[in-house]
Amino acid sequence: QSIAALRSALLRWYAAHARSLPWRAPPGTNARPDAYRVWLSEVMLQQTTVAAVTPYFERFTRRWPTLSDFAAAESADILAAWAGLGYYSRARNLVACARQVVDEHGGMFPASEAALRQLPGIGDYTAAAIAAIAFGEAAVPVDANVERVIARLYAIDEPLPGARKAIGQAARELWPADGAAGDFAQAMMDLGSSICTNRAPACLTCPLVRQCRAACSGAAESIPVKPAKRPR
Ligand code: ADE
Ligand code: SF4
Repeated sequence: QSIAALRSALLRWYAAHARSLPWRAPPGTNARPDAYRVWLSEVMLQQTTVAAVTPYFERFTRRWPTLSDFAAAESADILAAWAGLGYYSRARNLVACARQVVDEHGGMFPASEAALRQLPGIGDYTAAAIAAIAFGEAAVPVDANVERVIARLYAIDEPLPGARKAIGQAARELWPADGAAGDFAQAMMDLGSSICTNRAPACLTCPLVRQCRAACSGAAESIPVKPAKRPR
């Protein structure tokens, strides 16, 4: 099956089945959500689940609706509001990042993955996620869900972490470059959390089953291969 068929099957599924999350634009429209909201949600989601993040995201954006509100806030208030999310360095980096965007970028997030990567608290994954979702750049954010789906689609059965190179390369070939990169990324995330799950992938209801090498070989559950345990 072709890459074009796989892309359109995934994007069609996303338009019909995307989770409605407060940091998203309506799916299937290639609409761009506000970069401030994408940044805040992606940093919160770095080490925390969607379910835990959602109420925090709602509280933060009610209290600080824009980047300039956030950058002007007392950092003690932001750290207090963060309580319970864990990994406090993320909250300190949020404060530093907001101030840097105001001081060095005139209060607007830079639109490229490379420039985003220079900001505090924004690593490779988060830079790619913001660039794709908020700015429509053809960037490829590979989180654990995306990694699992791609490994299965291509039946990449080398153990992690070595498999990451092949997974990244397959992802870059598969990713659409026409402004759909953000929807494509979030479609992969939703597929990975609802259908192509870690333990029991629901291949029979998967929109990509006809494009998936692991499903054909019955190997889906055993891919990606976990790193070998060190002998004790
Ligand atoms: N995890 C990280 N980013 C996400 C997003 N934009 N939607 C759903 N889950 C995510
Ligand atoms: Fe995952 Fe199965 Fe879909 Fe392949 S067919 S992407 S293994 S759920």
